[in-house]
Amino acid sequence: MSTRIRGRSEGLGSMSARRAAVPGPPQDTWSPAIAEKLYGVNSWGKGYFAVNEKGNVEIRPTKDPLRSIDLHEMIVGLSERGLDTPVLLRFTDVLSNSINEIHQAFQLAIEDEEYQNQYSCLYPIKVNQQRAVVEAIRGIGEGLGLGLEAGSKAELLAVLGLTVDQPEMLIVCNGFKDREYVETVILATKLGRNIIPVVEKFSDLELLLEFADKHHVHPQIGVRVKLSSRGAGRWKKSGGARSKFGLFVSELLEAFELLKSRGMEDCFKLLHFHVGSQICDIRAIKNAVTEFAHIYAELRQLGAGLEMIDVGGGLGVDYDGSQSASDSSMNYTVEQYAADVIYRIKSACDDADVPHPMVLSESGRAMVAYGSVLVFDVVDTATYDVSCRVEEVEATLEGESEVPQPLLDLLQAVRDLEQRDVVEVYQDAVAARDELLSLFGLGYASLKVRAAGDRLYWYLASEVLKRMQNMEEIPGPLADLPERLSDVYFCNVSVFQSLPDSWAIDQLFPICPIHRLDEPPTRRGVLADLTCDSDGMIDRFPSMRRGDKQILELHPVERNGPRYYLAAFLVGAYQETLGALHNLFGDTHAVHISVGDDGAQIDDVICGDTVSEVLSYVQINAKELSRSMRRDVERAVRAGRMTPAQAGSLVKFFDSGLDGYTYLV
Ligand SMILES: Cc1ncc(COP(=O)(O)O)c(C=O)c1O
Repeated sequence: MSTRIRGRSEGLGSMSARRAAVPGPPQDTWSPAIAEKLYGVNSWGKGYFAVNEKGNVEIRPTKDPLRSIDLHEMIVGLSERGLDTPVLLRFTDVLSNSINEIHQAFQLAIEDEEYQNQYSCLYPIKVNQQRAVVEAIRGIGEGLGLGLEAGSKAELLAVLGLTVDQPEMLIVCNGFKDREYVETVILATKLGRNIIPVVEKFSDLELLLEFADKHHVHPQIGVRVKLSSRGAGRWKKSGGARSKFGLFVSELLEAFELLKSRGMEDCFKLLHFHVGSQICDIRAIKNAVTEFAHIYAELRQLGAGLEMIDVGGGLGVDYDGSQSASDSSMNYTVEQYAADVIYRIKSACDDADVPHPMVLSESGRAMVAYGSVLVFDVVDTATYDVSCRVEEVEATLEGESEVPQPLLDLLQAVRDLEQRDVVEVYQDAVAARDELLSLFGLGYASLKVRAAGDRLYWYLASEVLKRMQNMEEIPGPLADLPERLSDVYFCNVSVFQSLPDSWAIDQLFPICPIHRLDEPPTRRGVLADLTCDSDGMIDRFPSMRRGDKQILELHPVERNGPRYYLAAFLVGAYQETLGALHNLFGDTHAVHISVGDDGAQIDDVICGDTVSEVLSYVQINAKELSRSMRRDVERAVRAGRMTPAQAGSLVKFFDSGLDGYTYLV
């Protein structure tokens, strides 16, 4: 497990369970509308999410405010049915809306440009292979000419099996291919499937020709081009000359000549490129499509039978709502994307006087990201004790033979707070605290002295934080104070299982409470997951001011009080399949919800992994464990260490634990 160094300077061990009065946003004029703004719900929500008057987050799966679902009420209803958080909510209507939105954007561009061909979307199943998701998309796409993209042998077999009743559905096959993969594709063509294998390496073409000869098939063939243009953002390495897949232009010409020499130039149906996922800057799209369109036009002029061009994935999702070219955002809209793609292809074709090809895109992320919401509860919090007073500290130090100078400096800093410049006082306090910690490390300060120093520092820092609320500009030395003084909210979730991109590539996801938003969030915190890994934390959140923020505004949570629910939004793309079983936290429950005239309806419930199931993934047999446990318990009864009733209880807990959820219940 990687041990990346995190920004927080305080370990959990130095925190007290007492509640701190760390100030949050202004409280006097609080309303759900202010909460909506604070968490940026209307910036990243794209019309799908809002905060209602009750202070709960609602989802509008069709973007119609009259057909909204209150997420908190939904979670309470699921809990009554015995389905506890963490739970992943999937909204089929959001998938439908997202897919239609992309389709309509292309339709509009086609009409505006008088483009003489059509557009179809391909769903790359790698983005979310869950059967229910693929089946929903297959259904939604029926009237839209939607196809599926497979990126591996397993995905190909899944796609072939899932489209038995729709043989006309286009299947595009990318990724590494072995003989078995290629022969399967050729035989699927014989079966009557509309399937296009994409040549990613020259050797793929040789294999295709070999099996086409063997089975007497005249296949449709696609070729991926290695463009010199690169994407923009985190995945820019997927494009450019050093990218993993695709033929160089010189190889492309060679491939075309080879097909021509066999009288198969008409098989060359599709040209493809992909310069990376989550392209954040529209310029990268413009450049890539222009280069690609010229390659298509020239190949057409040379006599290739090309009918389709596939501009790959990359259409972004504005995770942080900033509409910028930052990695978790995008500086364009889907309409701009479609307009640019269509306009640039049309211009190149018109200049070369070749027909406009059918346009395909593999916009997986944009199709499914908005459709899933992960809801989880907070199980505990850890906060700093900021209740300290100078007199209390002085009293506790009575009897100490010598009070170290840094502690006296900290006391003085607290006394000076009203009189001196707040930045200077804070800097003095930080220096004094650092010196005190060094003295403690060298054995020159007692535990009592160190504790007094910590409490003085936390008190002073919290007072400075209060004063910061009235500052127009935050002075540099105070910039990290909100983060330093934030609480830790322990959440019933595994970052590794449910939000792997947050851990692996620092991707931002919008996260906020789904209720109590009519109440000001008076706390600031970071989120820690259930795993015992210090990396299992979320400490970067979209900020509506600038960049991202290191804390999230939260509500106080009482131990044994009502449950406090948070949700991570826009998690439908990549998170489920990339999730890992760290600490054996398995799949969460997933609930499929649609909205009809009578309101929300639960269409399907897929229960999360049980402990026995996750154990079986690591070849541990739950039944054998149970048998061994029973033997051990019997030995304890025989030896008189346990009563039979205690033995019975332990065995019962053990067995019901094996059948239970991997998360806290
Ligand atoms: C070849 C190919 N097509 C499509 C996609 C999907 O991209 P996105 O989800 O960004 O639309 C990917 C993912 O990286 C890909 O490698």
